[in-house]
Amino acid sequence: MKQSKIIGLGFYVPENIVTNHDLSQKMNTTNEWIVERTGINQRHYYSPENNDTNYGFGVKASEIALKRANLEAKDIDLIVYATLSPDYYFPGSGVLLQRSMDFRNIAAIDVRAQCSGFMYGLSIADQFIKTGMYKNVLVVGSEIHSSGLDYSDEGRHVAVIFGDGAGAAVLTATDEKNKGILSSHLHSEGKYAEDLAILYPNSHAKDKFDPNEQKAGGKFYPIMNGSYVFKHAVTRMPEAIEEALNANNLKAEEVALYVPHQANDRITQTVQKRFNIPDEKIVRNIHNYGNTTAASIPIALTEAWEAGRIKENDLVCLFAFGSGFTWASAMIRW
Ligand code: UT7
Repeated sequence: MKQSKIIGLGFYVPENIVTNHDLSQKMNTTNEWIVERTGINQRHYYSPENNDTNYGFGVKASEIALKRANLEAKDIDLIVYATLSPDYYFPGSGVLLQRSMDFRNIAAIDVRAQCSGFMYGLSIADQFIKTGMYKNVLVVGSEIHSSGLDYSDEGRHVAVIFGDGAGAAVLTATDEKNKGILSSHLHSEGKYAEDLAILYPNSHAKDKFDPNEQKAGGKFYPIMNGSYVFKHAVTRMPEAIEEALNANNLKAEEVALYVPHQANDRITQTVQKRFNIPDEKIVRNIHNYGNTTAASIPIALTEAWEAGRIKENDLVCLFAFGSGFTWASAMIRW
């Protein structure tokens, strides 16, 4: 059986930086509250006047990842595209990426696993490569949150945490043993689906696109039971790490770098303490980008790689938790 390894990484965030101070001018919040509760200083927002799109961000991140992989779009055999903020209700953003670059008429799979989306995508890519069906797979996580946040008092706990951006990884098949993705672990618990969700538009509504119905309930904005999500995140993320360590017979200290989904810096720090992970072995960049959902792990991984924090043969553990609830981990030998 083949193994799959990451050979190219890239990310893109739009130019428009929105600081906590900027947010405090348009809504009832403060820099102090945001920093203390989340660790976030700023996030990047899309600009409609620049014609920014979710798939456009995906293109920019993919171009960098492909260049670093020394591949062209036509070499890719499969696109896996993770997002919770797709360009359209349908079709998925994967096909919009497919048409925007020089890809062949390859399959484009859209993944709906929210903050765990990139991890699900990585695992899907890995399975197709392991079986020998595909050689080169592009996995993208991309989000535009800022166009659909509730900046009123009711939604402010959600609005302050999210940011826009995209990340991409190119995976390829290798015959090297004990290299690349060693294992991936995916979970869901749908009984909490409505604790972090956007409920509109939905196909079971009487009139799914009735703006009055949406506005009346505020249901087209994300809703989040914040403290509940927090509690589950700090339980499920460590479980996912344990699972990845156990599957590979590893101790926590053998991992060279932990790359968490950047949900909230307090969540990351709680997990960090639990495993006694020193600062230099964990990626924390939420202060610059906010929570970018499916994009957060590929952005964090790319930044770490660019900074020289990942060396050949290093063990890298990725983990995520988010809406669904979904959670996931992967152990990689670089
Ligand atoms: O990506 C994965 C999914 N998401 C997450 O992992 C996020 C998990 N949850 C969290 O990170 C935290 O729950 C939040 C950062 C979202 C919120 O922090 P919290 O400590 O749970 O705050 P809270 O929502 O319980 O609100 C505490 C207080 C409330 O005031 P009172 O009732 O104590 O007077 C809120 O009204 O803070 C108030 N508040 C704010 N104040 C200023 C809520 N949001 C804000 C705000 N600015 N933006």
